[in-house]
Amino acid sequence: MKFFVDTAELNDIRELASTGLLDGVTTNPSLIAKSGRDFKETIAEICKVVSGPVSAEVAATDYDGMMREAEVLRKIAAHVTIKVPMTLDGLKACKALTGDGTMVNVTLCFSANQALLAAKAGATFVSPFIGRLDDIGLDGMELIREIRAIYDNYDDFRTDILAASIRTVNHVRDAALIGADVATVPPAILKALVKHPLTDAGLTQFVADWKKTGQSIL
Ligand code: G3P
Repeated sequence: MKFFVDTAELNDIRELASTGLLDGVTTNPSLIAKSGRDFKETIAEICKVVSGPVSAEVAATDYDGMMREAEVLRKIAAHVTIKVPMTLDGLKACKALTGDGTMVNVTLCFSANQALLAAKAGATFVSPFIGRLDDIGLDGMELIREIRAIYDNYDDFRTDILAASIRTVNHVRDAALIGADVATVPPAILKALVKHPLTDAGLTQFVADWKKTGQSIL
């Protein structure tokens, strides 16, 4: 499973990239607004830190507008992934852009049929939103399960399932159990994946016992 971080905060991206465990970055208009920074500058800076796919979302909602914006965004770096909404215009833009060799992430996916269309449109990634389905009393993880089953039925589908709107460490585990290709995870949850109280307690004990030996490895 690949790990993307779902943020536009450069400090978090730098910290996580330095671990060598980060495969890419996703942003969206809300995350850019939260950062308070210039969109294109931010994407350019992220692309210097991370060599994997960096999702940058179009603001237009019509096909021509999306294509014009994609033209600007994809010039920022070869690993910019154009994020388009799950609409007919978005899917049309997806088909045109991927046909041209550009990576595309189809976002705001809330149903298996939508994911089927994204694969038909040649999407590089489809982003099913787990947390937002859970928020309205539906089962976000069930959607990941359905999409995995559908995509596995067809050898010609190349779209990666990018589990998005992840809110808990259990979402990451469950998406991995189902076989999502990628999880895009907020920085705090990515860092929390390593945590376990028995690890902390065990390490404290090992450090104390090592001191008792009076030895040094160096
Ligand atoms: O970037 C798309 C997705 O991960 C958004 O998550 O928490 O705003 O539903 P959230």
